[in-house]
Amino acid sequence: MQIIIRKGDLTNEKCDLLVVNAFKGQEKFGGATGAVDHALGGLISSIVKEEKFSCKLGETLLVRPSGFFAKRVLLVGLGKEKRFDIEVVREVSAISYKTANKIGMKKVVSILHGAGHGGLNPKECGRAIVEGVRLASYTFETYKKERTKPAVVEFNVVSNDLRDVKAALVGAELGELSFSGTVLARDLINTPAGHMQPAELVKVAQRIVKESKSKIKMKLMDETALKKIGAGGVLGISQGSDHPPVMVHLRYAPRSSKKKIVLVGKAITFDSGGLSLKPAEAMYTMKCDMAGAAAVLGVFSILAKLQPRVTVEGIFAACENLPSGKAIRPGDVVKTLNGKTIEVLHTDAEGRVTLADSLAYAVQQRPDAIIDLATLTGACVVALGEEISGVMSNNRKLITKVLDASKTAGEKMWELPLERAYKKEIKSEVADYKNIAGKYGGALTAGLLLQEFVDDVPWVHIDIAGPAFAERQINAYTGKGGTGAGVRTLIELLRSY
Ligand code: BES
Ligand code: ZN
Ligand code: ZN
Repeated sequence: MQIIIRKGDLTNEKCDLLVVNAFKGQEKFGGATGAVDHALGGLISSIVKEEKFSCKLGETLLVRPSGFFAKRVLLVGLGKEKRFDIEVVREVSAISYKTANKIGMKKVVSILHGAGHGGLNPKECGRAIVEGVRLASYTFETYKKERTKPAVVEFNVVSNDLRDVKAALVGAELGELSFSGTVLARDLINTPAGHMQPAELVKVAQRIVKESKSKIKMKLMDETALKKIGAGGVLGISQGSDHPPVMVHLRYAPRSSKKKIVLVGKAITFDSGGLSLKPAEAMYTMKCDMAGAAAVLGVFSILAKLQPRVTVEGIFAACENLPSGKAIRPGDVVKTLNGKTIEVLHTDAEGRVTLADSLAYAVQQRPDAIIDLATLTGACVVALGEEISGVMSNNRKLITKVLDASKTAGEKMWELPLERAYKKEIKSEVADYKNIAGKYGGALTAGLLLQEFVDDVPWVHIDIAGPAFAERQINAYTGKGGTGAGVRTLIELLRSY
């Protein structure tokens, strides 16, 4: 599908479907919607009245005018004007694409939602429309015999204001990038763990390096190298699997950069729980346990084009958490990369053990900031639900930057505390720390353990256990399966430097 943003007049666009919009409770249609209604002799407004169509957010009304340039007109509700924002633009764009597809429309012409009457920044609107439409069109059909063929081949976004069009085009480019990074992450997460082993993640990283035309470099550490650097956490967790662990270190360093940001991702290619085996149903979605690394790879896949002004490094320690005769046992002690030891009392709390190594390695790179993304705790999902990531940090300025970026990106995040009083919960009798704490506050105690491995480097931990994998349709542009959570926020964050 092509998305074309251009100047034009909605009242004389030849197409299969023309998309216009209106706010809830709007007395008279204004702007482009008003013009189309006028050209149709008030057809839309009269149907709206007759059918008591209220223009609630996401509600749609299909009109079939006769003798008009457009074969059909779709009115999408924007909801209340007071609540209107860029996220509504993303959502209604996704809804109009999906509706068009469902009824088999080939050529769609849409109003540039949000600009003009909506009062939003047209560049942001262009970006949100592209993200909404493209993400809504995502399907994962690698393993299907029959693939669906989408109906929409041309999605035009049209405005008669040339300045708005120009701005929207700039935003659209960014939208294409954030879509492409998100899709890579979704594909990696959705691929069954049997086909997404550590070595596969390495291949993906290698492909990214190759496609970057030497703008991105990579260092790989295999099992032997991991032993050499003393990454006992990853080595311990990977013991039970026949697939060897690997640490991946990606680096994008533009010439004039003054700051270095390190992105760290949890990369458990499958989390069975290990000897502390999970119940069957809890394993259904555990191919998603590398979603943190998938987000890092998603970002790296577009860095050469995004060209942020900062140095960005991406680090993940990939391994599989399985039980076997060689597996790590509850009570075993591992020595991590910075010399601190962890008593692994529960082999299903493996993420923090592998992240201890990755974070300690990240600190060695002397960064200005570390951001880690991890499907770390079920407790975070209990606390915030499936749609909101938990964010913890040792630095007010950095967390503010991350939360601001998440708002622009349309990803929900909420701060959780790194409560010092709970530190005693992760003290071990036999090692420096243990990897589980009491029954309560599980997201916080996991965060507290990670904190012990970042020293004084400004650091933000994002627990994406809820949003990384959707067990139901979340919104019009996020369906079941891997979501690519974190990619858009990270892109926005890197742009802010
Ligand atoms: N990968 C899981 C966390 C998870 C849960 C991710 C649900 C996505 C959805 C993690 O390794 C885990 O199993 N955590 C345990 C920790 C506990 C044993 C202390 C948990 O949250 O139950
Ligand atoms: Zn686990
Ligand atoms: Zn896990």
